[in-house]
Amino acid sequence: MKISIIGTGYVGLVNAACFAKLGHQVICVDVDKEKVDKINQSISPIYEKDLEEIILKYKKNIYATTSYKEAIEKSDITFICVGTPSKKNGDIDLSFVDQATKEIAIYLKNKKSFHSIVVKSTVVPGTTQNHVLPLLEEITQKKAGVDFGVGMNPEFLREGAAVYDFLHPDRIVNGYYDDHTKKLLSILYSDFSCPIVETSLTAAEMIKYASNCFLATKISFINEIGNLCKRLGIDTYEVAEGIGLDDRIGRAFLDSGIGWGGSCFGKDVNALIAFAKEIKEPCNIIQSIVQVNEQQPLRLISVLKKHIPSLKGKTIGVLGLSFKPNTDDIRDSRSIILVKNLLKEGAQVKVYDPKAINNFKKLFSDIIYCDNAKDVLDADAVIIATAWDEFKKLDYKGKIVIDGRRLLEAKKTAKIYEGVCW
Ligand code: UDX
Repeated sequence: MKISIIGTGYVGLVNAACFAKLGHQVICVDVDKEKVDKINQSISPIYEKDLEEIILKYKKNIYATTSYKEAIEKSDITFICVGTPSKKNGDIDLSFVDQATKEIAIYLKNKKSFHSIVVKSTVVPGTTQNHVLPLLEEITQKKAGVDFGVGMNPEFLREGAAVYDFLHPDRIVNGYYDDHTKKLLSILYSDFSCPIVETSLTAAEMIKYASNCFLATKISFINEIGNLCKRLGIDTYEVAEGIGLDDRIGRAFLDSGIGWGGSCFGKDVNALIAFAKEIKEPCNIIQSIVQVNEQQPLRLISVLKKHIPSLKGKTIGVLGLSFKPNTDDIRDSRSIILVKNLLKEGAQVKVYDPKAINNFKKLFSDIIYCDNAKDVLDADAVIIATAWDEFKKLDYKGKIVIDGRRLLEAKKTAKIYEGVCW
């Protein structure tokens, strides 16, 4: 199939590369000429495991341009994969989606053959049906479902495993407005053996939000149970095993610790809360998972203060700044809350991360950045905030170690070892 993809960020590029791998002809569109040039030289503008190898191997099937005209004319289906960042009040910012939709519409207007526009960006329920579709109709002066098609096809890609997740999905969700788009999407994904959910545009959008909110809920839930377990002297991970064996619950996303971060969970959870507020529906559970997630890193500081009651003037080491291992991404990282609060307590903070130091430096200039994990160990106590593999192998040299990520190996060489929920 001939596919065009608008936006070559993390979602757009992973989709482009993987569709190319599946044998489709893909045109990527981006306003950033530098990114476009890189893709045409088979260089990935972002790091994501296996992505550049695929772009290189299937270079015959991928082409990038800044021209919407070329992309719409030379493809049968267009995926909108632009960012939907959060506004200050939690609402999603649709300006990139609007911009892409308007540009697409200009060329869709003159296109003779049937063309489908599919939203892949994460947008709140109703956006494709009530916002994107009317905008396309208004500019093209054409009728959706008759002259062009509309779909909504959310992604469920984890950072660091996005290529794998695209190629091995648990399910594919195809929201459609018209039968032509339904058919195009089902042909496009016909190589996959997973279940395919065919549904309305708005249900597809809600599936994406409900998935991320549910996963975040699982983590906040197990963290709350973990806090109770710690008080009772129970191992919360045994409890997670015990409940996870129930097929209705499942073991995944029941690792208690200092909570969730990243580019999606916080943004999506807050967008759904803001949306629910707008339509005047209570969102009590989802609101409370945010509260639990904000409090959880502070519990780690309380555990630390059992061993060092006043942090004033003490040096505290923080191992791990990224929101999860194997990425330099610090968006919504629990380490941000940790460091902020350690500073508030008057501690001097020393940090190390294998990849995320440069990003963290943009947020904190008044802490000490170390070149390796060992240099953090001359602190009065060490906090483990991200589960990087190298922290498992580290000799903790008889230090006080407070662990937010369950790296039990640290116990062997620490003088005192205590976890946030264990
Ligand atoms: C997530 C979703 O998994 C993905 O489907 C969606 O499309 C984007 O958001 P990602 O942000 O890459 O992906 O991270 P993920 O691996 O899901 O982890 C999110 C956060 O939850 C991390 O901070 C991680 O440390 C934390 N986490 C995860 C836990 O604290 N406990 C767990 O059991 C699992």
